[in-house]
Amino acid sequence: MDNKPERILIATSNTGKFREYSDLLSGIPIPIIGLANLPPLPEPDETGSSFSENAALKAARYAVLTGEWTMADDSGLEVNALNGAPGIHSARFGGYGSDYRTKNELLLDLIARQESDDRKARFVCTIAVASPDGVIVMEAQGECRGVIAESPRGINGFGYDPIFIPNGFEQTFAELRSEEKREISHRARASSEIIRKMLDFMGV
Ligand code: IMP
Repeated sequence: MDNKPERILIATSNTGKFREYSDLLSGIPIPIIGLANLPPLPEPDETGSSFSENAALKAARYAVLTGEWTMADDSGLEVNALNGAPGIHSARFGGYGSDYRTKNELLLDLIARQESDDRKARFVCTIAVASPDGVIVMEAQGECRGVIAESPRGINGFGYDPIFIPNGFEQTFAELRSEEKREISHRARASSEIIRKMLDFMGV
């Protein structure tokens, strides 16, 4: 097995996410490539029952398809009042086709209809790295804890950012500057951990 990666594939077709990871992972001393650098590939279904299973499934599938060292992630929002929903279903919540204004309103409506008014929530991100033969060699998880706002605020970011207020702030993620979000986000935290593990693995 090639146990010293010479480059690594970030398995996302989302260009925003790819750019964010290129930035977050700049501490890794090997080139990073994206799916856009390769011929089109079929997207695997996220059939796992946890963030970790989905990240591993994507990393292993793309590694075998491409023969590349591959990093993949899975992320989402867990809300206490909804017993952890939408969780791994965050992207599908309210239907794949629905936009995030609709998803955010639906989520606020659902919370308002619960007996529990526990608005605590967390974003979670799991990153898995697979060797070219599809074996998962490392994994990292990051979280960012906060509360769900009473109504959507802000225009930065994406997804559930307008309704999530990270602990220690009064603004939602969508009201923070992207550099501020990047310092405390679940993705940033998972990325720092995976960088530490990669450097260790590569003996750097
Ligand atoms: P995936 O990890 O690309 O499958 O995305 C999972 C879902 O979680 C998507 O619907 C995202 O909108 C949502 N999500 C993940 N991270 C964030 C974030 O930082 N802000 C807002 N929504 C997020």
